[in-house]
Amino acid sequence: MTPPVGDLLVRRAGRVVTNAGPALDGPAAIGIRGGVVAWVGADRDVPWAITDAPELDAGGACVVPGFVDPHTHLVWAGSRREELVARLAGGRYDGGGIATTVAATAAASDDDLLAAARTRLAAMAANGTTTVEVKTGYGLAPEAELRLLRLVSRLAERAPLSVEPTLLAHVVPAGADRADHVRGLAGALPEAARLGARWVDVFCDRGAFTVEEARALLRAGAAVGLGGRLHAEQLARTGAAELAAECGCASADHLEHVDTAGARAMAAAGVVGVLLPTATLSTRGTSWDTARVLREAGVALALGTDCNPGTSWCESVPYAMQLGCLLLGLSVDEALRAATLGGAAALRRTDVGHLGTGARGDLALLAAGHEADLVGHLGARPVLGTVVGGVPVG
Ligand code: NIG
Ligand code: FE
Repeated sequence: MTPPVGDLLVRRAGRVVTNAGPALDGPAAIGIRGGVVAWVGADRDVPWAITDAPELDAGGACVVPGFVDPHTHLVWAGSRREELVARLAGGRYDGGGIATTVAATAAASDDDLLAAARTRLAAMAANGTTTVEVKTGYGLAPEAELRLLRLVSRLAERAPLSVEPTLLAHVVPAGADRADHVRGLAGALPEAARLGARWVDVFCDRGAFTVEEARALLRAGAAVGLGGRLHAEQLARTGAAELAAECGCASADHLEHVDTAGARAMAAAGVVGVLLPTATLSTRGTSWDTARVLREAGVALALGTDCNPGTSWCESVPYAMQLGCLLLGLSVDEALRAATLGGAAALRRTDVGHLGTGARGDLALLAAGHEADLVGHLGARPVLGTVVGGVPVG
């Protein structure tokens, strides 16, 4: 992982949200030295020591910490348009379409997969994302998942963003013996760790892996130093939220069917709840109560895109924030925190998600003077510019 490192002085910000103290009204400035935040304050008070850095005129834009997207599936080939059309005609999402993407991905070359993933990553940067978790998951067989993980590692090496690689145990391939498949995946985890994976994730749900299978995979991951995360309670209430708590997962994601007991277990174990409202919308889900259940139990919230071809073809965290507010009932402050500090907490990162002194110099210049306008202005371009480690990238 080698995200950029540079010096930059952002001037004439109309407002700066640092997440490390009250928001500053402008004109304000942010000084970045060697890729990290060195100073934030009034434009007229910029210390002489950073006045020699290259300048970026924010033109009155609101500046926020770069978005931290803790849940994406970026590496895939093919289309799921037939499935969408069927869903619009009344069909129900059950994960069955994953096999379509697995077949198309197996047939694609490494170069084509990488090129497609890089295009998606560029779209994310253009929408203000500066740190992104990237899962495998469209290989299924252990060797095929390791192939995709190698591609994620290559993506991470030359990405303009900070990339966190995850090996995802998605579903059991048709015709495979379940126990053999789980053993095979567990046996691939040491190689996954060597290839640079930081996390193991399991789709623990109806039609995917059971709680017992997911537990075995999370334990096998922990044994080789991989942190755990779970696709949990998306299609049915299975007890995956409690499993995330039991195994000390960094996050449990989706959670449309979580109940108060599951949410309380997560809160007690410090498991972050990752909301993926674009997936709920695209699957035509009807459970919009997740944020309230989690909030009332005291679970820390994050927002992600779940970028994938079947349930959430979306590279935009601002769009997830809009749905988070308008459909899940988050306040603007909650949505912005969930998209920045929340994502960072879901990835157990303290260097991103805020603009306190010493944080990575990752930020987004909004196409708005205030973060509430990011939520209010629907269908508009949300971000004017993105900076990673003091280097403008999108
Ligand atoms: O996060 N829930 C399972 N996995 C992915 C999407 C899988 C697919 O349908 O391609 C998700 O929604
Ligand atoms: Fe997902």
